[in-house]
Amino acid sequence: MREYKQIINLSDALMARINELLSRYPVDKKKSAMLPVLHAVQDAHDNWLSLELMDKVAEILEVKPIEVYEVATFYSMLNTKPVAKYMFEFCRTSCCALRKGEELMEYTCRKLGVKEGETTPDGMFSVVGVECLGACGYGPMLQLGDNYHEHLTKEKIDALIEDCKQGKVSMI
Ligand code: FES
Repeated sequence: MREYKQIINLSDALMARINELLSRYPVDKKKSAMLPVLHAVQDAHDNWLSLELMDKVAEILEVKPIEVYEVATFYSMLNTKPVAKYMFEFCRTSCCALRKGEELMEYTCRKLGVKEGETTPDGMFSVVGVECLGACGYGPMLQLGDNYHEHLTKEKIDALIEDCKQGKVSMI
């Protein structure tokens, strides 16, 4: 077990949100709320979960920290390291791959001057490949924040990057 444990306090607004989420589950089944609680905590903390935040979630859900780490590191939509403001998550599974999704991801990497998994020096953009996002009939596609961008082309990617630079892209 780690020897340090920083006490971290969540904002009143976030705690109210967490309590609302917990109210949807039986009192003795707090663990069932883990995914929505992790999303709420991540949303309130620059889209990533530090160890201290995950420990706090474990305390709230009355589970061992390792149980929270296991979930947070399994799902690609949960981030355990700082991430770019705009994270382009390209589906790289078969349907999208057959429709040149990987080529478009490489195109985006070249355009932004990063390799897959890297973040631009200004912290604005990162590009990652993820598994099927359930929009197989609309590929190639990517997820940006809570939104899907489908039937991608180079032109659509150019426009999306430009919109991000101009602050026109909503992440929720
Ligand atoms: S294969 Fe790309 S969304 Fe399913």
